[in-house]
Amino acid sequence: MPDLIIRLPDDFHVHLRQGPAMAAYAARSAAHFGRFLVMPNVVPPPVSGAGVSDYRDSVRRAIAASGHGAVPLASFKLVPGMGRDAVLGCAAAGAVAGKYYPAGATTNSSDGVPEPGAVAEELRAMEDAGLVLSIHGEDPDSPILEREAAFLPVVDGIVGGYPRLRIVLEHLSTVAAVDAVLDWPDRVAATVTAHHLSFTIDDLAGGGLDSGFFCKPLLKTARDREALVAAAVSGSPRFFFGSDSAPHPPAAKAAGAAGSYSAPVAMSLLAAAFEEAGALDRLEGFVSGAGARFYGLETNGGRLALRREPWVVPAIIDGVASLAAGRTLSWAASRA
Ligand code: NCD
Ligand code: ZN
Repeated sequence: MPDLIIRLPDDFHVHLRQGPAMAAYAARSAAHFGRFLVMPNVVPPPVSGAGVSDYRDSVRRAIAASGHGAVPLASFKLVPGMGRDAVLGCAAAGAVAGKYYPAGATTNSSDGVPEPGAVAEELRAMEDAGLVLSIHGEDPDSPILEREAAFLPVVDGIVGGYPRLRIVLEHLSTVAAVDAVLDWPDRVAATVTAHHLSFTIDDLAGGGLDSGFFCKPLLKTARDREALVAAAVSGSPRFFFGSDSAPHPPAAKAAGAAGSYSAPVAMSLLAAAFEEAGALDRLEGFVSGAGARFYGLETNGGRLALRREPWVVPAIIDGVASLAAGRTLSWAASRA
């Protein structure tokens, strides 16, 4: 008997990569999520209607092979010079979001945006097409712990400069970002990851270094984590789930790649975080309701079952060093 059954969740921020590795990552996400918004930091990036279609087709094939019914939501990468027609082409191909990576902020972002003026034409086109602007909100030139706060004024400029644009600030990691989102109008929302709700910089580096916890934005302080939990369990439709599951093979991790493979553990971590906050009844809204509403989608038809059942996270899952490897988690999830 499950301890909790919820509507099948959505993941509004996931990295499924490309090539042979994608099959395992897509199957892992499809096991728990009915839809996922697939991030575009692959090489070459989807920056046209054809690019969006091709990449989504490859994801669809990987999901089909998994045997789980799940729907990939497509995004494109916002690249200076791509132009209005390319943006409208991405929208026509079914992309629901365009991703703004500050140039150099994270994995495969050297072709990202140096400053918002460099994509003014493209942002206008996104606004006209009703596309969501998805933002990796970090200033790569600031000190690592200050990058998110330092980028908030840039987001503020975009919010003010494009009064109809709908915006999602991704993977919040600080009190400052939570406060900023609440200060902006309703057309601005945010994703929160399971790892930023569950862990702090001490899990990464407080004891022995555990690079499974190394991601951008970096895990922050207990105070930041508490603010994120408060936002997630508040029931506000402005905060919803995006895993930022970002698998890197062991050699890449050893070479310093940022990204935590969270898809296998995300639902377990979320159930524990919401339970600890006395808000298990708000979990469904956070993972299966608010994001769908923001993106204008129906909620999923299926169900996810959650059980209070301890399990130890393996060191390697799908060939990748897992987030929270070796930890005992208190909840397990499976499709109902
Ligand atoms: C992500 C990746 O590896 O693609 N890494 C990460 O640390 N989160 C990119 C991203 O979302 O920053
Ligand atoms: Zn990401």
